[in-house]
Amino acid sequence: MSDTAFDVIVIGAGPGGYVAAIRAAQLGLKTACIDARESLGGTCLNVGCIPSKALLQSSHLFEEAGHGMAAHGVEVAAPKLDLKTMLGRKDSIVGDLTKGIAFLFKKNKITQITGMAKVTSAGNVSVGKDAYTAKHIIIATGSESAPLPGVDVDEKQIVSSTGALDLPKVPKTMAVIGGGVIGLELGSVWRRLGAEVTVIEFLPNILPGMDADVVKQATRTFKKQGLKFKLATKVTGAKKAKGGVTLSLEPAAGGDTDTLQADVVLVSIGRRPFTDKLGLAEAGVTVDERGFVATDGHYKTNVDGIYAIGDVVGGAMLAHKAEEEGVACAEIIAGQAGHVNYGAIPGVVYTHPEIAALGKTEQQLKDEGVEYNVGKFPFMANARAKAVGSTEGFVKIIADAKTDKILGAHIIGPGAGELIQEVALAMEFGGSSEDIARTSHAHPGTAEAVKEAAMAVAGRAIHI
Ligand code: FAD
Ligand code: NAI
Repeated sequence: MSDTAFDVIVIGAGPGGYVAAIRAAQLGLKTACIDARESLGGTCLNVGCIPSKALLQSSHLFEEAGHGMAAHGVEVAAPKLDLKTMLGRKDSIVGDLTKGIAFLFKKNKITQITGMAKVTSAGNVSVGKDAYTAKHIIIATGSESAPLPGVDVDEKQIVSSTGALDLPKVPKTMAVIGGGVIGLELGSVWRRLGAEVTVIEFLPNILPGMDADVVKQATRTFKKQGLKFKLATKVTGAKKAKGGVTLSLEPAAGGDTDTLQADVVLVSIGRRPFTDKLGLAEAGVTVDERGFVATDGHYKTNVDGIYAIGDVVGGAMLAHKAEEEGVACAEIIAGQAGHVNYGAIPGVVYTHPEIAALGKTEQQLKDEGVEYNVGKFPFMANARAKAVGSTEGFVKIIADAKTDKILGAHIIGPGAGELIQEVALAMEFGGSSEDIARTSHAHPGTAEAVKEAAMAVAGRAIHI
């Protein structure tokens, strides 16, 4: 085999692609991974999950230093923001983690190729003038910000999430179009750092698709923190001037128009599959009506030997979902039985408090005609949450009315993103609410709220 012939070529080195490449190499397959970026890790590591979480942490500390310490009897002088250092810290975390993947590639003897890849036919990939062959090709090219007609992103005054991770100064005013995950996370960052942030959401509520009680609590909490909301409102255009951007607004249902001025506008209305210049049409690979690469239940496209995983195939656009698919796809290629349990993939919004969702919502179960029981427990009644000083929110566990099998869990509160994990594990094992209720949880811990919610499913919570 020459250096241009591989068992597997993965296109895209995001969480889907780089994990697929490592798993394929572990299984003894000669593997190459191609990415347009030299820095590995895709959207998630370079301009997504990691830099956003670094800024969320730094801005949280800034806010705590300003407002959160006095109640503990800790007096601090008003904190001063050094934005350059904050952004530098974020960049260095990204640098460390992306280099870590380059190390893993070397360790697993994966060939890293940098450049824009094109699938010329089954088994053939080109990068510029170079041609490569592979028995199996995995497309893991991810997604990009969805554009909003009339509101053109210049990454200065009108930014996507990428620009919002690198603003050179804190804007006085910021308009966020889209009250989803990115809008709330990055809107929170800049609000904490001093911007007046208004979130404009097309639907009547933020975080569409999430549990209704969680959305109610989240809206209340974010308002208290100072985020402003314009719900059921659409943006019909944007006019840029030296001093800022003027957005034209209209009620989603039609009616009187309005305007909103902002120094910076963040467009975060969702993401769409990225398949530009990939040559899918020439290679005969089918995409669906929204541009997602169409696959069967085993990540196979309609062309033999071409597979697709991650954001580019749709479903939950989450890094860990892409990673699971990367592992499963590599195992299937190697002749094993790779599998992903899509019913037990948690989703977390890393605001303060965090919001976590898993499995079905009550609304979904009602729509499906499934009978269920609900157990709910507020953090206000949890000793650790009290001690920590973060009592807003609750844990909700939903279980099948007949079998008690856990069908969903929804948490808003301190460390929700970690707490959801025990419920995910229980779901993965087909567990019941009683399984969690009878598991000993260390005291005092916020995880006791999960146990109490599980006990509440059968009406036997102790501390409420
Ligand atoms: P990507 O990570 O998008 O990687 C695709 C890669 O393919 C890119 O590096 C791209 O350069 C490359 N590529 C594309 N086309 C070609 C080509 N033709 N040739 C060569 N290379 C190509 N998810 C979470 O689970 N948790 C979070 O906290 C979280 N936070 C986020 C915050 C932000 C601001 C954003 C934007 C996203 C966030 N996400 C988060 C979503 C997460 O980033 C994605 O779900 C994840 O990155 C998808 O992985 P992927 O491998 O499918 O694609
Ligand atoms: P999103 O789908 O979460 O939210 C988009 C929001 O914009 C929705 O509330 C939608 O109703 C609204 N919207 C759509 N069109 C609109 C319009 N014209 N005007 C006003 N509002 C409009 O998408 P978002 O926030 O852009 O994030 C993209 C993806 O990235 C998400 O699917 C998410 O999975 C992923 N992500 C995950 C994170 C995490 O796991 N913590 C963090 C950030 C992103």
